[in-house]
Amino acid sequence: MLLRHAVDIRESEITDRALYLDRRRFLTLAAGAAGLALAPRPVQAGPLAGYRKRAMTVDDKPTSFEAITTYNNFYEFGTDKSDPSKYAPGVFVTKPWSVAVDGECGKPGTVAFEDLIRPVPLEERIYRHRCVEAWSMVIPWVGVPLAPVLKRFEPGSRAKYVRFTTLLDPKRMPGQSRPILDWPYREGLRIDEAMHPLTFLAVGLYGQDLLPQNGAPLRLVVPWKYGFKSIKSIVRISFVEKQPTTTWMEAGPDEYGFYSNVNPHVDHPRWSQATERRIGEFFRRKTLMFNGYGDQVASLYQGMDLRANF
Ligand code: MTE
Repeated sequence: MLLRHAVDIRESEITDRALYLDRRRFLTLAAGAAGLALAPRPVQAGPLAGYRKRAMTVDDKPTSFEAITTYNNFYEFGTDKSDPSKYAPGVFVTKPWSVAVDGECGKPGTVAFEDLIRPVPLEERIYRHRCVEAWSMVIPWVGVPLAPVLKRFEPGSRAKYVRFTTLLDPKRMPGQSRPILDWPYREGLRIDEAMHPLTFLAVGLYGQDLLPQNGAPLRLVVPWKYGFKSIKSIVRISFVEKQPTTTWMEAGPDEYGFYSNVNPHVDHPRWSQATERRIGEFFRRKTLMFNGYGDQVASLYQGMDLRANF
């Protein structure tokens, strides 16, 4: 996969949103009419073409499109890494899609997915993705920063946390027929974590719309936290005063805490978190504190005991 090097992008180079949506609709129709599956393309030519290039990036080589879209965790479609790419496509219809925003905010409401992200220019951000199971990837996401999306709903002074909820629909998510987790999947962030400039709502990767297995049509990305914080296929965002309970905290309170910051010094009770296997590489790597984003996020946790707040 050929990726262009970072360039400075002027406002005028960013595709107008209406044009972008029209073009996306056209490409989808054209691809459907031709009976073609959309293959990975260079970032300039995909359905999301026109987004701001590489707003934030890392030097690491991106993981292959193939690995990113076939080695997944999405328990709504099964617990094997290969289940989501086998069972989500076709069954998991994500159009139309809307997101409800509620709780401690001045302007709650339910908006279509396109309207939620439309006012914020799309960006590509290449982030390290570190799963709690000690594997990692590097993913060229396309999406929007979360902060400007949230601010439109005017969070109030009692909005101390943000809770995210995945769709609940066992017809479209067959794994929800089994009590593997307490459905729907829920996650949470402190409001300052949610508003941090690194926190992102991904709508695509490698220049095309998110595939169902990666959490279409929109999922959270918090690059300094373990991958389970990056909740997929979000239908509700709630501003709340109390720290929300998350699905994994409920499933295993000794194993999964609220913060879940990548921390090589605090092991998971059943395995070490000191090293990771980068998918596509042979040798294990040392895991970096905050997944390598410490200079940008360590200040959020100043004075906190990160062993107690794991
Ligand atoms: N979101 C939902 N709704 N359901 C899930 O099972 N799995 C999480 C997270 N988001 C999960 C989810 C876990 S454990 C990880 S590691 C990442 O998604 C995996 O993202 P990826 O498959 O795109 O790599």
